[in-house]
Amino acid sequence: MNILIFGATSAIADATAMRHASAGNRFVLVARNEARLAALCRRLMESGADSTEPILADLAVLTDSGNPAKYDEWVEQAFAHLQSIDLVLICHGTLPDQESCETDFEAALEALDSNGLSAIALLTALAPKMMAQGRGTIAVITSVAGDRGRRSNYVYGSAKAMVSAYLQGLRGKLHSAGVHLIDIRPGLVDSPMTAHLRKGPLFAAPDRVAAGIVHAVARKRHTTYTPAWWRPILWIVKLIPNTIFKRLKF
Ligand SMILES: NC(=O)c1ccc[n+]([C@@H]2O[C@H](COP(=O)([O-])OP(=O)(O)OC[C@H]3O[C@@H](n4cnc5c(N)ncnc54)[C@H](OP(=O)(O)O)[C@@H]3O)[C@@H](O)[C@H]2O)c1
Repeated sequence: MNILIFGATSAIADATAMRHASAGNRFVLVARNEARLAALCRRLMESGADSTEPILADLAVLTDSGNPAKYDEWVEQAFAHLQSIDLVLICHGTLPDQESCETDFEAALEALDSNGLSAIALLTALAPKMMAQGRGTIAVITSVAGDRGRRSNYVYGSAKAMVSAYLQGLRGKLHSAGVHLIDIRPGLVDSPMTAHLRKGPLFAAPDRVAAGIVHAVARKRHTTYTPAWWRPILWIVKLIPNTIFKRLKF
């Protein structure tokens, strides 16, 4: 299997990559932390991967907005290395400070970029190449936070919702060209992103989410909640009438 991962050093991406670390699998891994990227490449090779190719990149649109072609360049590099791609995973993201985002638009814009615009920029570069190839799967990590804007994290949630809506439309276009698209919606995950939060029973380990991703890819799911208990939880959350929802502080 030939696998391309953006945000490869994320805990969820790392665990997903390691689940694919077996003979015959080749990786192109894109991330911005050189040391952690090199360490992941090493672990994958030690665990049996055929090859790993690191690409060092800051995926945000705003850090280098004078160079929109960078997304095409990374995708070109990945195809040049792998020739064909079976699975693309888009996994980068940040958990912004909601209160700062409410008063500082720069902070909000940064959050919308790292969780939304940059994923769409990547998909814009990836879609034509994957369609030309006529097969393969793209899995994009969004979040349960995108299902309904909550008072405590609606900037992050709205960025993820933007990506989810984008995927709903892009899915049809890719489907007609033989490419499958999956929206992966994790709930609370015990990863560096949530290191500052007090952990409760709803938190899952990154490897549990990785198992959900592997399953969703194998079963060609469209939208996956991982762990699966988040689907009924979100179903209920979405049913709460606005007159009640606006009074809730979560
Ligand atoms: N943790 C949760 O509770 C949770 C819940 C739902 C969805 N998710 C989503 O799951 C995905 C993975 O998160 P995680 O839980 O695995 O957290 P994580 O370990 O903190 O991973 C986030 C990754 O995104 C990378 N990143 C952020 N901005 C970037 C940029 N501009 N360019 C390149 N890389 C960038 C980070 O790189 P650096 O380490 O170099 O900063 C880090 O590797 C994210 O999309 C997140 O929104 C997480």
